[in-house]
Amino acid sequence: MVQRTDSDAVPLPIDAIEADEKDRIVVGIEEVDRVLGGGIVAGSAVLIGGDPGIGKSTLLMQVVERIAATGKRVLYVSGEESARQIKMRGTRIGALSSNLLILIETSLEAIQQQVKEVNPAVVVIDSIQTLYSSAYSSAPGSVTQVREASERLIIQSKQSGVPLFLIGHVTKDGSIAGPRVLEHMVDTVLYFEGDSGLSFRIVRAVKNRYGPTNEIGVFEMREGGLCEVANPSALFLSERPSGVAGSAVTASMEGTRPILVEVQSLVSETSMGIPRRTAIGVDHNRVSLLAAVIDRVCGFPLASRDIFINVAGGVKVAEPAIDLAIVSSLTSSFLNRPVDFGTLVFGEVGLTGEVRGVGQVQSRVKEAGRMGFTRAILPRSVVRDHTFEKEMTPLGIANVGELVEYLF
Ligand code: TYD
Ligand code: MG
Repeated sequence: MVQRTDSDAVPLPIDAIEADEKDRIVVGIEEVDRVLGGGIVAGSAVLIGGDPGIGKSTLLMQVVERIAATGKRVLYVSGEESARQIKMRGTRIGALSSNLLILIETSLEAIQQQVKEVNPAVVVIDSIQTLYSSAYSSAPGSVTQVREASERLIIQSKQSGVPLFLIGHVTKDGSIAGPRVLEHMVDTVLYFEGDSGLSFRIVRAVKNRYGPTNEIGVFEMREGGLCEVANPSALFLSERPSGVAGSAVTASMEGTRPILVEVQSLVSETSMGIPRRTAIGVDHNRVSLLAAVIDRVCGFPLASRDIFINVAGGVKVAEPAIDLAIVSSLTSSFLNRPVDFGTLVFGEVGLTGEVRGVGQVQSRVKEAGRMGFTRAILPRSVVRDHTFEKEMTPLGIANVGELVEYLF
């Protein structure tokens, strides 16, 4: 728990409290500002997690360089790499401002002292697992050390108003190594997700006290660092096969933005006796449930088949609105009939096969229109409440039993 150490706090009438948006530092990298909810909030603590080599250090170097370039001093503390390694990265991405100060240090007390002396506009700790406090005998990276170091840095940042970025490694199961409690201590948690084998990188705000959660920033790792991807829908659909069964496109709201993603399925005869279920990018239980619904409502015997399902591009989608895309791609694979190439699908599916309304219909359909889609299969309940461009034909359905009629 973060505790106040000063005792001069007094109650204030709410209308006397100032909280202007001007307290944010706008980084100037649009995808970063978006996931942060519109820039870096004064005194906030942001945790950035991700697999080794995914680009955490690179992203934060680029962020602090932008701030340094505006004439503000920034402090980048590394306990992982040598000054020379950092300089090499800096040269590669063009982060060479004299306002960008690099401190190679792992002692918490020494770092806190430097933060006080330098009084930078932003502090980056790379990584929280390397710090140790002499007040504790346990090793760096241990739960106690990670928690204590984070807590003390967060208190310092709240008191001074200097925003703090903590880089954290993630373990195999995807959580930040060390205490889970770290996520509760900070204001914002950003995770790198996606396939490290691909060149693009997705940064998602899984928690944000200062902005919408689930907002994503999409980047491509290039020779000179991470570049913004202006049109994520185009990227995620760029390798979509045409005329192939098992592929369906949906519009998923990721934070405030609709993003088009392709859900791919492979339904095949079970060879092992017990049907196999593999889901990447979507919830495994949701897939089983929807397969059972199709089985019951449409009479397609999916319960006894192997099912593999994947969201192309390594993006994770968790919205109920993607249900209809899961159903469509499974149905398409089962029937071995390709979904019409210009058709988008979205809607939540209930246990009786009913297709339920979802929010943000207009922005989803608009994004699909922009990407050249001309038909949208969507919940019937939302069709009557919305107007559609004449280039887009809305096809409202109330139950998944009606899906096959429009899908192909
Ligand atoms: P890095 O930021 O060091 O990852 P992390 O801090 O998450 O461990 O990124 C490392 C990878 O990024 C490494 O494989 C090299 C690659 N990279 C580029 O492709 N281009 C670049 O400009 C930079 C700096 C790194
Ligand atoms: Mg690193």
